[in-house]
Amino acid sequence: MSGSAVAVADLHYSYPDGVAALRGASLTADPGEAVGLLGPNGAGKSTLLLHLNGILGSNGSVSVDGAPLSPANLPAIRQRVGLVFQDPDDQLFMPTVFDDVAFGPRNLGHDSATVEARVRSALATVGMAGTESRPPHHLSVGQKKRVALATVLVMDCSVLVLDEPTAGLDPRGRREIIDLLQSLPQTKILATHDMALAWELCQRVVILDEGQVVAAGPTRDVLRDEKLLAQHGLELPALLGHSGATGCVLLQSAFLTAGENWHGNCDG
Ligand SMILES: Nc1ncnc2c1ncn2[C@@H]1O[C@H](COP(=O)(O)OP(=O)(O)OP(=O)(O)O)[C@@H](O)[C@H]1O
Ligand SMILES: [Mg+2]
Repeated sequence: MSGSAVAVADLHYSYPDGVAALRGASLTADPGEAVGLLGPNGAGKSTLLLHLNGILGSNGSVSVDGAPLSPANLPAIRQRVGLVFQDPDDQLFMPTVFDDVAFGPRNLGHDSATVEARVRSALATVGMAGTESRPPHHLSVGQKKRVALATVLVMDCSVLVLDEPTAGLDPRGRREIIDLLQSLPQTKILATHDMALAWELCQRVVILDEGQVVAAGPTRDVLRDEKLLAQHGLELPALLGHSGATGCVLLQSAFLTAGENWHGNCDG
């Protein structure tokens, strides 16, 4: 679609062992938009994300800012699209945090003063200033996830592609990463099982199942469709909350409109 920051059309991909992971998947993201990629385990979400900066090839069509992903413009697209893996240990491999964040700018041939300025700025953005000399493998999962994000922000990318950005984080770490993502202006495409994250951050969601898109639309419309979610192994989280009048109450869904919220009492 012209004007899209990212457009994926009819993407097919089979792994070398023959598993057909993507069977005609399509999605678009407008500039500045956050799009959530939802779906059960094995749906093909991570496989699709790996196509967005050419880690996996395809016989479908991926374009970024209108430029098709091809061998000739792969280097330019890799600068524009920053991919953050679910497991930060897949992203961080250098002896220090500084070296990991500096890896991309050094590869671009920037001088050391520019590299240092960019690394410090990226680490400050993710709240990890002061950790430059630490070995990444000594950091907590949440800290590693922030440094992994810094390794792509340092490249000044215009599209952030994130695989399960809140997985493995405690509530505070999760809140911090959501707030950080909210504050970043880039286009975002994120695969997640965290429905509350999708609700809060994404203007649109796409549900993938068995390598195909089975639903796409405004987050609030798609996530309210309980039957659709159930058909694809998804559900909204049930939350425990407290009400002043009755004490502990079960909040069946955090996503119902006001007045529909309260569903029973823990004592009852
Ligand atoms: N390296 C691989 N080699 C072979 N098959 C793979 C490989 N990686 C993934 N697959 C298969 O491709 C399909 C899609 O997997 P993918 O990891 O993309 O799903 P996902 O939606 O990200 O799942 P999850 O929610 O568990 O992360 C699955 O059937 C999976 O077993
Ligand atoms: Mg995955």
